[in-house]
Amino acid sequence: MPTIRKLGVLTGGGDAPGLNAVIRAVVKTAINAGVTVIGLEDSFDGLIYPDKARVLTTKDVAGILRQGGTILGTVNRGNPFAEPIVTPYGTFNYADRVMEMFQQMELDALICIGGDGTLSIAYEFYKTGIPLVGVPKTIDNDIYGTTSCFGFDTAVSFATDAIDRLHTTAEAHRRIMVVEVMGRYAGWIALHGGVAGGADVILIPEIPYDFDKVVQCLQRRDARGARFSIVVIAEGARPKDGAVSVVEKAHGGHAERLGGAAKFCGDELATLTGKETRHVVLGHLQRGGAPTAFDRTLATRFGGKAVELVLRGQFGKMVANHPPELVPVPLGEVVGRTKLVPLDYDLLQTARMMGISCGDKCPSRSWSFFFCRSSISLTCSSVIFCT
Ligand code: F6P
Repeated sequence: MPTIRKLGVLTGGGDAPGLNAVIRAVVKTAINAGVTVIGLEDSFDGLIYPDKARVLTTKDVAGILRQGGTILGTVNRGNPFAEPIVTPYGTFNYADRVMEMFQQMELDALICIGGDGTLSIAYEFYKTGIPLVGVPKTIDNDIYGTTSCFGFDTAVSFATDAIDRLHTTAEAHRRIMVVEVMGRYAGWIALHGGVAGGADVILIPEIPYDFDKVVQCLQRRDARGARFSIVVIAEGARPKDGAVSVVEKAHGGHAERLGGAAKFCGDELATLTGKETRHVVLGHLQRGGAPTAFDRTLATRFGGKAVELVLRGQFGKMVANHPPELVPVPLGEVVGRTKLVPLDYDLLQTARMMGISCGDKCPSRSWSFFFCRSSISLTCSSVIFCT
C-alpha cells in the first residue's frame, strides 16, 4: 500500500451532470481517510498554472451534490501534447511541466474525471510515472469498459421531457417534428430518450438511415390517422450513402463538432412527404441542470471507489460500472475505443419489433416478427417503429 497524504482531483472535457457529486465524494472520503485534497482547476491546467490549484475542504463541497457543471471548471483542449505551452511563467513542454508541478505540489496521486479525451491524456501521464485513477464521465454513454456513466441518465431524462412536450405541439399542427440529441458517434441518448419519449422514428449513428424507410413509416402513421410524427435523430446519424453533419471540422487536435443532422433530415422529409416539418436541437441543455438521483448516486459511488483505488495503490485504472459492482479496469483497455450501441441490443430489437407489429396497417405479429428479425441482418437500415 502506498502512503497517500495529498491527492489532486481534476475534471476535463465537456461537463456532465454529476461531476460535482464525484468531487464531493472524493473530498469527503479522502478527508475521512486523512488525505488532503487539492482541487485542480480547468483540467490539467491546474498542474500548469500554480494559481489554479487549491485545497478543497468539506466546506467547499457542501451543497454541490445537486449542482450541474463542475466547481473546478473544465476545458476541452484537443491534443495538449502537440505544441509547447506559453504561460506567464515561461514556455514549457506540456508533459514536463505537469510532471514538474505534480512533484512541486507534493502530490501523491491524481484522480482524473473525464471522457475519452481526458482519460487518454491521463493514461499518457500514467505511463510517464504519475500515479492516477480515472473516473469515466460523459452524457454520451460511449466510454468503453463501463456499462454506464453519470450524466447519461440526466441527458436522457431531459430529452424524454422535451419529446413529451413536442408531442402536443406536433399534434396540434399535424407536423413532423425532428429532434436532434447529442451523443457524438453513439446512439445511446437517441435510443433511450426516443423510446422513453415515445418517438415514432429513431435514427442512430450505428445504423445509417434510409429516407425511403423513414417516409414509409411516416406514411403508415398518416394512413392510420396519426396527426403527427416525432423523429429523434442522434447528432452523429447519417443517411445511407451520406455523411455526418458537421458544424466545425477537426483542427489542431480538436475533434470535429457535430450538428445539423435534424435540419438536414427535416428538410428532406418535408420535401419527400409534403408535410410541414420542424426541427429542434436540444444541444447543451442536455448537459445542464441538476443531475438525476441515479446520476448523483452513480457519481458518488465512482468518487468513493476512486479514492479506494488510490489508497490501495491501484493506479492506471478507471473505475467502471459492472453491475452490481464497481470494478477497476486498466486505462490502456479503455482509451481510444468507443462503446457503440450493439446491433443486438435488446432495446434496439424491441424498438424494431414494436415498429413492425403495431398499428392497424402493420402486418400480423408473427409474420412481422419474422420479417423484422430477418431484415435486421439483411436490409433494415433505420430504426423505425410506430406508436
Ligand atoms: O461528449 C459530450 C458532448 O456533449 C457531445 O454529445 C457533443 O457532441 C459534444 O460534447 C459537444 O461539445 P462542446 O461542448 O465542445 O460543444
